[in-house]
Amino acid sequence: MLRLNNIIAGYGRTRILHGVTLEVPKGGLVALLGGNGTGKSTTLKSIVGIVSPQEGEIVFDGRPINDVPVERRSAMGLSLVPQGKEVFGEMSVEENLLMGAYHRRKDRVGIAEDIESVYQRFKRLRERRKVPAAMLSGGERQMLAIGRSLMSRPTMLLLDEPSAALAPKVVEEIAEAILNLRELGLTLLLVEQNVGMALDIADHIYVIRGGRIAYQREVGEGIAMDELREFYLGGKEHV
Ligand SMILES: Nc1ncnc2c1ncn2[C@@H]1O[C@H](COP(=O)(O)OP(=O)(O)O)[C@@H](O)[C@H]1O
Ligand SMILES: [Mg+2]
Repeated sequence: MLRLNNIIAGYGRTRILHGVTLEVPKGGLVALLGGNGTGKSTTLKSIVGIVSPQEGEIVFDGRPINDVPVERRSAMGLSLVPQGKEVFGEMSVEENLLMGAYHRRKDRVGIAEDIESVYQRFKRLRERRKVPAAMLSGGERQMLAIGRSLMSRPTMLLLDEPSAALAPKVVEEIAEAILNLRELGLTLLLVEQNVGMALDIADHIYVIRGGRIAYQREVGEGIAMDELREFYLGGKEHV
């Protein structure tokens, strides 16, 4: 479904990714773990086209997409739920959802159906549909950010640290929502610093350090936490 081959990317002259290679199979739930500033968000931005790699190839649905513009990638089915639960604070919940369908704003019937399906998935959003997004709790804002992404009818969702700054009980809710999306048939790439949550729900993990993949394992292969911690925090650097 998605494959990154040796991606080198950065900002201006600063290189952040030094050759990231990873793969997300169709219907899979893959987690990309790593500490602050290791290049996780830059990887996701490269996939949706906000950052243009200097080298390497991104293949989505069998097609190289390096030269495909952001909006076109979104129409192809890629959607990013950005870090920080970013929503339009002064707009209502429902207006935020409408923004997610902006590129097909003439499709009134389809949009109404999609909003209904977001409300069925996240019942609290229905109760709060007229409320400005700034008034939502962290968990509700994350649900809204995910809901807004779903409004573009993606086939693959990229989630950037959805569990950050949430209470453990809310993290569980978000984890469950992610598993439900997977059951719906979505392909998922989850960026996390919450290793426990990622190991609970992902079927494959990658650890990125200093802009390189330092470790990867199938979950269930008996991941040794000591080993994982070592790759996560420092020391070794090979796959
Ligand atoms: N827009 C930007 N311009 C310049 N440097 C950036 C920009 N965004 C991120 N960086 C730098 O790139 C590095 C990796 O950032 P990022 O990919 O956001 O890391 P992570 O998501 O793993 O915390 C950091 O050192 C960060 O300061
Ligand atoms: Mg980040």
